[in-house]
Amino acid sequence: MAYPIASLDIEANNLNEGFLGTQAPRYADGVLLLEFLMGAGLVIGAVLARQRCFRAHAWCQSAIVLLNLGVIVFTMLPSFRVHVSPKIPCKLGKAYYALATAHAALGTVTEIAGLYVLLSAGTRLLPEKFRITQYKPWMRTVLLLWWLVLLFGLATYARFYVPHLFRK
Ligand code: HEM
Repeated sequence: MAYPIASLDIEANNLNEGFLGTQAPRYADGVLLLEFLMGAGLVIGAVLARQRCFRAHAWCQSAIVLLNLGVIVFTMLPSFRVHVSPKIPCKLGKAYYALATAHAALGTVTEIAGLYVLLSAGTRLLPEKFRITQYKPWMRTVLLLWWLVLLFGLATYARFYVPHLFRK
């Protein structure tokens, strides 16, 4: 079976050098771990808000949303452009491309929504009429979407690097 990801990995000479025992390169294992830590961090941040520690909550969530933006720009976006986007739409029937595309689309919406909440709540950069007035539903929705994207990310990782898990 062809794993498009392998071409990049061979270039980088780092196939199978990950630490999770799959066929993933080290960077992908690192991203997977970091993303789950960030997902847990967002939950901790939400608990801080419930405890009315709003300053700590704001720092925690902002740092995670910005760190995630960096991870997307420097790892996921380049991977998507090399391995997935050239095959869209012809190969969307295959789990490999369908999962990665669903993940990327939902991930884009979620990251933008997270940045919007950050800009609205934490800065005065947006004109008043564009700022959120009801923060709670926005923040809860972003947290929910984030974990959904995380699960899609895990499925994408599994499809990329755990052979024989999916048949198609
Ligand atoms: C909230 C936003 C996002 C979260 C939480 C997230 C999470 C994850 C996780 C946990 C993985 C598995 C680790 C890995 O394989 O490297 C992953 C992989 C991936 N994500 Fe995302 N992601 C997000 C946004 C995006 C966006 C916006 C794109 C598209 C531009 C994208 C494209 C990809 C691709 C192509 C992979 C496979 C990377 C590879 O291993 O080569 N993700 N993501």
